[in-house]
Amino acid sequence: MPKFIVVSDLHLVPDPEELSCTLNPAERLHQAVDHINETHPDAAFCIFAGDLADDAARGAYDVLKSGTDRLAMPSYPTMGNHDDRALFAEVYPQHVNAETGRIDHVLDLDGCRVIVLDTLKVGDDAGEMSDVQFDWLDARLAEMRETPVVVVSHHGIANVGTPLDFISFTQKERLAEILTRYGNVRQIISGHVHLSTAGVWLGIPFTTIAGSHYTIHPSLKGPIPDIPRRAGPAQMAVVLTSPEGVVVHHENFVDGNDLLPAEFFRWDPDN
Ligand SMILES: [Fe+2]
Repeated sequence: MPKFIVVSDLHLVPDPEELSCTLNPAERLHQAVDHINETHPDAAFCIFAGDLADDAARGAYDVLKSGTDRLAMPSYPTMGNHDDRALFAEVYPQHVNAETGRIDHVLDLDGCRVIVLDTLKVGDDAGEMSDVQFDWLDARLAEMRETPVVVVSHHGIANVGTPLDFISFTQKERLAEILTRYGNVRQIISGHVHLSTAGVWLGIPFTTIAGSHYTIHPSLKGPIPDIPRRAGPAQMAVVLTSPEGVVVHHENFVDGNDLLPAEFFRWDPDN
């Protein structure tokens, strides 16, 4: 059964010894790589679904490369709201899509197409895509109408009922109209919200993963910044595809769930 991996929300910092709150994001990256190489060496590829960097510094992408260079399979990163497309492209120039100018990918497995979308809106924590990206996505879906498709992006298409919904994807109806046009989209897998969810939005199944950095739990409390952040689980999606459908395993590679000090997460949404 064809398999691929999705890891999200690494929040890497340039100095691997520098801590992001009380977590070491580089250590988490290498834990994820070790887990994938040991447990899923048969995966076709690994997608890193955005928030690769915590502060959008060039050095954070060098740290990422120290992990992707160790992976036993190809990797395909894309952008989240914490990322900087130009700095990323200095380290990974091969991942800039020549048609869209964004970090979009189309990946074909045996009997399944995977489309990775760059949803970074520069200067904003919410997500969006360009007109060129919408046209590119439409074309990639249209040319494989009989093939099941899985879409991976940083921002999810649906609100998930947490205080962070105000920084979700902004063009929901436009994206949903394209994703439902050919009837071949089987699943959308996203990060961004730092928690595990599953649901259906306008007929499209979706799931979010907790990611590699902190986890929000319980998830429905507010207001920001008082929602609790925990040290785990650090989680990846292990995705199994077949002609009949798609299975997503929410697989934890770190299980710790200690409550993290709130002072690390004070932020002003207007800044
Ligand atoms: Fe994140």
